[in-house]
Amino acid sequence: MHMKLYLHRLFRIITMFALINLSFTDNPPVIVDVDHARSAVQPTMWGIFFEDINMGADGGIYAELIKNRSFEFFNPKMGWKVKAMSKDSSAFVILNRSAQFDANPRFARVTVTPEMSSYCLSNSGFRGIGITEKESYIFSLMALVPDNGLMNMRIELADAKGVVIGSTFLKISGNEWKEYSATLVATKTDPHASINIWFENKGSVDIDMVSLFPADTWKGRPKGLRKDLVQLLADMKPGFLRFPGGCIVEGRDLANRYQWKTTIGNTGERKTIVNRWNTEFAHRQTPDYFQSFGLGFYEYFQLAEDLGAEPLPILNCGMACQFNTAEVVPMDQLDPYIQDALDLIEFANGSAESEWGKIRSEMGHPEPFHLKLLGIGNEQWGPQYFERLRIFEKIITEKFPGITLILGAGPSADGDLFEFAWDQLEQYKPQVVDEHYYKNPAWFLENAGRYDTYSRNSHKIFAGEYAAQSDYTTSPSNQNSWQCALAEAAFMTGLERNADVVTMCSYAPLLAHIDGWQWKPDLIWFDNLKSFGSANYYVQQLFSVNKGTDVINILEDGKPLIGQKGLYASAVVDARLKEIIIKIVNSTAKEISQEIQLQTGKKLFPKGKVIVLQNDQPEACNTIDAQVIKPIEQDISFKGKKLTKAFNPFSVNVIKIKYQ
Ligand code: AHR
Repeated sequence: MHMKLYLHRLFRIITMFALINLSFTDNPPVIVDVDHARSAVQPTMWGIFFEDINMGADGGIYAELIKNRSFEFFNPKMGWKVKAMSKDSSAFVILNRSAQFDANPRFARVTVTPEMSSYCLSNSGFRGIGITEKESYIFSLMALVPDNGLMNMRIELADAKGVVIGSTFLKISGNEWKEYSATLVATKTDPHASINIWFENKGSVDIDMVSLFPADTWKGRPKGLRKDLVQLLADMKPGFLRFPGGCIVEGRDLANRYQWKTTIGNTGERKTIVNRWNTEFAHRQTPDYFQSFGLGFYEYFQLAEDLGAEPLPILNCGMACQFNTAEVVPMDQLDPYIQDALDLIEFANGSAESEWGKIRSEMGHPEPFHLKLLGIGNEQWGPQYFERLRIFEKIITEKFPGITLILGAGPSADGDLFEFAWDQLEQYKPQVVDEHYYKNPAWFLENAGRYDTYSRNSHKIFAGEYAAQSDYTTSPSNQNSWQCALAEAAFMTGLERNADVVTMCSYAPLLAHIDGWQWKPDLIWFDNLKSFGSANYYVQQLFSVNKGTDVINILEDGKPLIGQKGLYASAVVDARLKEIIIKIVNSTAKEISQEIQLQTGKKLFPKGKVIVLQNDQPEACNTIDAQVIKPIEQDISFKGKKLTKAFNPFSVNVIKIKYQ
């Protein structure tokens, strides 16, 4: 076993014995050493992990409301229903122009014959179309009339019962592809509406990129992102945005890997591919899950910029998912993968005159995106990863020494694969290593001291994916329970206390559609109209918005609080806001009264605040109708530099005290 892991386990055993002893002693005060900073908290400390899983992008944050808009799904008619008087199948056919246009080869031809009065195609979006009364919706499509005639179209929104709740008209003419658009205003709210497109003239029309967006998107960007979901992200004040995953980077096979170059430019020229999560789990088949890449790499960078977060793209390293095909690219064919990394850095940071910077500039962002972080590989393991990594690392660091590379430690933060990775990484001296933990709540509590004993001479840690699992990992029974969130909070006090070695952290996965998920638990849940933060979301948010600038000691009997009496704690100072911020997690079913002494020469304001997340029921969960675990703010006052507070059972407490 690796020496550091051995020491870490030894420390845990010693701590457990210490806990047994402590339970027989009185309740000593905890001392906060306000004036001596242990280390800085990096601005990147708490961030966001984004992956298009659970309909997070298409059907989720990407506000497109029409499913299979460009007829590129395996079954090109999937999502489309004929609602016509005629059953003539030749009236709706799919044509393929792959020789001329490989990125978006298919389109549909609708033919209204003399026997038909009209013809109608209907689409009910991603588990229904969410429509809000009085809101405007922009319908658009690419179209042409092959015989150069005219096609009148009537476009209707219909509620779940089929009643029309908004309509508009378009006239299509000419035999060249053109974009047409029209606005509809809804007369009723319905989360399960659909759209009907009526073709009212005789003859044929070719259609593609048939699209419907709310006018009211995040920052009002046409064909942009869902406002409520981005707002939830913005409210976290994330330090970084990791994208596009996750296993989606790897693909089930290499052909299905994420290739950023096919996700930029005109949306009609981005190559739709299957989403690797669509049939991954027998318990949650989602065969209609594809990636349109309407949310592509440009939009990810733009989102990071909007959120004030460092962009952190993760690139494929020449290996497909090792849980699936484990396909690897031969070493002598790795060049295109490395070139993708070099070109991505130019796309993000190059001048508007450079080859890839020019594309960024033409897309509307002449200024660079200031990329500093780049991940190579997601959950790869074994010698194949490290031999590929060596080449990526050499070439990228030579060409772009300012880019910090993030390497992976495999799918789990313990076990043989992890230990193998550690040995390899030791030889490497990487800057940052990504560790993942999908474990039960007990593991999170037991490992709250994990980083107290980590080497300070090796790499920094990116806790890149973590979430407590109420059942086994990937189980459909997993819940975003309060017990899980509480255990994560306890663990996070350990991450924060060790911010000198842990520089980045993110919960995963981020988003899940209530009717379209594959993986539970998830941070933010939504349906077609509404969204809400899980208990875990509020834990993440509390840590992130109260991250402070410097870690300080909070000790009991000279030791960090890592489960003594069931309490877990960390503390920071925010030097800019002149604030002391103490985080205390009571993981027990009992109220615990605790004295806190602030050791400081600073003059303190006698009144402070405590923000509490609490629920008496460990199995409690927020739902779309009731958020039972939400931060509640209370005033606290104290005398001199002492404070005694009763910490509620099962609670996360953030105490904030201002100083002069
Ligand atoms: O977060 C869901 C998946 O968990 C990620 O795609 C992968 O990296 C991990 O196995």
